[in-house]
Amino acid sequence: MMQRDEPTRVAASPEHVPAREPLPPEHAHRQYALEVSDLWAGYDGMVPAIEGVNLRVPVGELVGLIGPNGAGKSTLFKAILGLVKPWRGEVRAFGRPIRDARDDIAYMPQIEEVDWEFPVTVSDVVLMGRYHGLRPFARWSRGDRAAAREALERVQMADVADRQVGKLSGGQRRRVLVARAIARGARLLLLDEPFAGLDAAVQHDLVAILDGLASEGLSVLVATHDLSCVANSCDEAACLNRTVIASGHPNEVLTEAVLAKTFERHLLMFPLAPASGGGDARRSVGTPP
Ligand SMILES: Nc1ncnc2c1ncn2[C@@H]1O[C@H](COP(=O)(O)OP(=O)(O)O)[C@@H](O)[C@H]1O
Ligand SMILES: [Mg+2]
Repeated sequence: MMQRDEPTRVAASPEHVPAREPLPPEHAHRQYALEVSDLWAGYDGMVPAIEGVNLRVPVGELVGLIGPNGAGKSTLFKAILGLVKPWRGEVRAFGRPIRDARDDIAYMPQIEEVDWEFPVTVSDVVLMGRYHGLRPFARWSRGDRAAAREALERVQMADVADRQVGKLSGGQRRRVLVARAIARGARLLLLDEPFAGLDAAVQHDLVAILDGLASEGLSVLVATHDLSCVANSCDEAACLNRTVIASGHPNEVLTEAVLAKTFERHLLMFPLAPASGGGDARRSVGTPP
């Protein structure tokens, strides 16, 4: 989404969606769960993995962050959270500097970064979401247990609460992590590729859960390669390829020009059946795994 206050920093693109009307100053930060302004980060001090990223997640919305491998999606999440130190830029959550809003945020890293062989049960993992309120060696309170049970019910995993996490399927593992985020009481969920490796039906169930959470007022930023999921289920889309190529309503963002710029060589384009008018009608069908 174009930011009115910094028009020159937004990557110019004919596909750019006009910004919404600016809010009156007293509401400037109220309705955004997350506001990322001109965020730069990288690993070797020379080439940025993300540059000049501007992104906003409105409260109660499900926002899809789309981009190919290496686009900087995971780096963006880590820079938002301070796990990778940003070179420059500002991140605010619920109108506050991100460091003051940590208890409101839950982060689910890419599944490869989670150790699933650790010998703990499903309910242990969800209870760990409550850890921030716990003194060392204190026992879980009745409130903690109730929150964990409720969160597991929310993702339809209560019946496997005592199972070892190592025995779960891929879809069940994602749901456990979402339950942990819910149990934590987070109002903003940052989910890095929660659909990777899931079959369509399992993915659909997870999307429905996220959609339900958003309609209850949670704000969700979800990184994915899955264009159809974003087109069908997300309130907003942001296309990332080192910087934000375009953001806004999925119908306006997911155009051929934006996707070509976002995915570059990663995108498979299939010509549509010969059309009577223009000869270059194309349809994007997805990205290679
Ligand atoms: N720990 C790291 N050290 C050095 N370079 C990294 C590291 N993690 C990611 N990168 C590089 O940063 C760029 C963005 O990667 P990443 O944020 O993982 O993208 P995505 O999540 O969209 O696949 C890539 O060029 C990647 O090789
Ligand atoms: Mg990644």
